[in-house]
Amino acid sequence: MRVEQNVNELEAMRQHEIMERLKVRLDKKKQELGRPLTYCSVCFGCQMNAKDSEKLEGILEKIGYERTESEEADFLIMNTCTVRENANLRVYGRLGQLKKYKKKNPDMMIALCGCMMQESLVVEKIKQSYRHVDIIFGTHNVFKLAELIENKLDNDGMIIDIWEGTTEIVEDLPSDRKYDFKCGVNIMYGCNNFCTYCIVPYVRGRERSRKPEDIIKEIKSLVADGVSEVMLLGQNVNSYGKNLEEPISFATLLQQVEQIEGLKRIRFMTSHPKDLSDELIEVMANSTKICKHLHLPMQSGSTKVLNDMNRRYTKEDYLKLVEKIKTAIPDISLTTDIIVGFPTETEEDFMDTIDVVKKVRFDSAFTFIYSKRTGTPAATMEFVASEEEIKDRFNRLLEEVQEIAKETCSKDEGKIMEVLVEGLDEQDESLLTGRLSNNILVHFPGEASLIGMYQNVKLKESKGFYYIGEMV
Ligand code: 5AD
Ligand code: SF4
Repeated sequence: MRVEQNVNELEAMRQHEIMERLKVRLDKKKQELGRPLTYCSVCFGCQMNAKDSEKLEGILEKIGYERTESEEADFLIMNTCTVRENANLRVYGRLGQLKKYKKKNPDMMIALCGCMMQESLVVEKIKQSYRHVDIIFGTHNVFKLAELIENKLDNDGMIIDIWEGTTEIVEDLPSDRKYDFKCGVNIMYGCNNFCTYCIVPYVRGRERSRKPEDIIKEIKSLVADGVSEVMLLGQNVNSYGKNLEEPISFATLLQQVEQIEGLKRIRFMTSHPKDLSDELIEVMANSTKICKHLHLPMQSGSTKVLNDMNRRYTKEDYLKLVEKIKTAIPDISLTTDIIVGFPTETEEDFMDTIDVVKKVRFDSAFTFIYSKRTGTPAATMEFVASEEEIKDRFNRLLEEVQEIAKETCSKDEGKIMEVLVEGLDEQDESLLTGRLSNNILVHFPGEASLIGMYQNVKLKESKGFYYIGEMV
């Protein structure tokens, strides 16, 4: 184990050296041009990608690029998602538009990374149809961005570096955090579950947990830097630590994180229902720092479909689990992901999904129409429903979910609760936006100087998915 850790540290040192060299080189370029060099970072997909983008942005700033929101930048990086087909289509659309910027500024560099790049067919298509792309890499070698830029500066043609998988975790590289007061922390990478519809295990590789001491060290240093809320990130945090040399449960890790002085809020994402332990429920119930919110993707309410999805729980298991959680933590907010139109889903199966939605009464649910991902087991399954039927189911589900969410989310109207103030309201800058422990937003009048602070607010009026409040 020590050996592997040494290798990681060496690699991080090597990357820091490359960053130093590149910085000198880019400084010269800036002098020649008589202006700063800019980068634009575009990120699609989940929290994992958002976290990777913070790392990429950290590297770009370290070597001297300045951030801009305009895609007409000197360096454009797009971190892609491939979980559903339309995520891919958006990337191709954007790439087409970028061609004109590159014509205007031939020194512009375009880099693509993330889950979509782990698919060989995608890379082939880009090589053939999008020759203006300069650098392509994947999910396993984000830490190498500086090295890839250096390669591009020294060589003609597209630089392509995709790793099939990795056992390595390279840490201690720069990161440009989006917020000063809250931060995502990777606790594990990859997924071993192979749900039959899902491409994630193929593009993010097998489960690899970080050692608890490394996670604690990182969180302590974030707290010293002003962070008071962390979001522990993994595709399936409930199986954290099982494959470590000294195995440890996720619940135990949470207890260790809870001990960190100065840390006020702990969130985590995502939980697989099949692995959610009684120990975790108990730790959550007794904790003062773990937020009262659980994202528990159910995907379908039909035992048959769940079986076809390889989810390894039944409708009854899911309902029982929710009951247990609600009994132990009455003020918990539950959110979920639901897929409609899985190939084997009949109307009867869909009605099981509606039944669970009605029984659980989620605070919110992300609903998706099943999207076929080539290479996954479900991609070869025959559809039993038509496209129209599936669209109709999707609309019915959305209506049900929204109506329930509206009622569930208003349950705290009139109460005084604590928010972490996250920023100015995007629609109305005289208002602040804060987040309750249960993840619901509250907009209320206040000064920008409160951003990053905890504040008690009275929840005056529920607007369905958020509250209007006032400071008390
Ligand atoms: N089609 C539709 N939705 C999907 N998800 C994952 N794969 C697919 C797919 N092929 C959804 C699941 C998962 C969320 C992140 O994306 O609901 O929980
Ligand atoms: Fe995909 Fe299932 Fe893994 Fe989630 S648990 S990332 S849905 S394979």
